[in-house]
Amino acid sequence: MECKIVTIPGDGIGPEIVREACKVLDQAGRVYGHTFSYQEILMGGCSIDAHGVPLTQEALQTAKEADAVLLGAVGGNVGNSRWYDVAPDLRPEAGLLAIRKGLNLFANMRPAYLYRELADACPLKKEIIGDGFDMVIMRELTGGLYFGERRTREVDGQLQAVDTLTYSEHEIRRIAVKAFDIAAKRRCKVTSVDKANVLDSSRLWRKVVEQVAEEYPQVTLEHMLVDNCAMQLVMNPGQFDVILTENMFGDILSDEASMITGSIGMLSSASMNETKFGLYEPSHGSAPDIAGKDVANPIATILSAAMMLRYSFDLDREAEAIEAAVQQVLTEGYRTVDIMAEGCIQVGTARMGDLIAEHIKTPGGEYDEK
Ligand code: IPM
Ligand code: MG
Repeated sequence: MECKIVTIPGDGIGPEIVREACKVLDQAGRVYGHTFSYQEILMGGCSIDAHGVPLTQEALQTAKEADAVLLGAVGGNVGNSRWYDVAPDLRPEAGLLAIRKGLNLFANMRPAYLYRELADACPLKKEIIGDGFDMVIMRELTGGLYFGERRTREVDGQLQAVDTLTYSEHEIRRIAVKAFDIAAKRRCKVTSVDKANVLDSSRLWRKVVEQVAEEYPQVTLEHMLVDNCAMQLVMNPGQFDVILTENMFGDILSDEASMITGSIGMLSSASMNETKFGLYEPSHGSAPDIAGKDVANPIATILSAAMMLRYSFDLDREAEAIEAAVQQVLTEGYRTVDIMAEGCIQVGTARMGDLIAEHIKTPGGEYDEK
């Protein structure tokens, strides 16, 4: 199979983690007989430096023409005046929002799974961790507060800022369908998270989700208020299978869920539209303070590349081979500094990428001799 991938290394640690993910993809391609071609585009601060905007129309068009997009991270220190002393829609993060909207990537899937090997890095107590957890956060990505009208103006001598939170039935239904589809292939449970005791948009959310649930009799639906969900995640994470929620709640809850896996450096994500096309990126940010030091954890990006193989290219076997390689490298005790534990072997970004690539097994279950 030949796959055309657009890469967006972005800012901070972005370029180094994307490099490792491509290394692993290439090895998977070599072992399983696929060719991945890459075309790089600029987005975020690097695009501001080169073109004055965080995402050009040409770059967006190039992304549209690809089979899938692999993204590192965008953004920098807010002290960087070149990127941040400008209108909000010209800042690096605006590029990310523009590509999500421009490609209609309304469904963001963030799996949070506790590797047994990383249980010590999990900040929760052993009795709370229990047998671990394995959940997927399905976050709506192109609606809600992120894309509503906003303005700041002076009213009666005081500045007043307004952000609007809008959801239509159609927007809720399509993300709910994705969540139920995924749940039906997993442990058949959807927890829909909202703030229906206060917000109209949440009450509509609940109503539409209940309608969708009727089509999936095998899947159990429960509703949970977002404040309670934040608490349940650290009290009993094992109860969750698929968490379905709107844009802003999903942003917050997915950071929380990532941290209980041991490190935000482990959490992959896929953003999809109605087709096979997707944008794959780690859930973490650009970490400018550690950029270029070969210490960043590339695993979230490598696992995002595995998701790309599964969801955009239907290469399930190859995706599993990458996931198994990550598992094996952790089992052998290799760790980047964020997940380092006593008795383990600390490695840098590039070495971690090499190790995972080397651990990709052939269809016959052997390691490929280089
Ligand atoms: C994420 C990030 C982005 C978001 C930021 C960088 C705009 O936090 O992907 O979770 O809030 O969606
Ligand atoms: Mg976030």
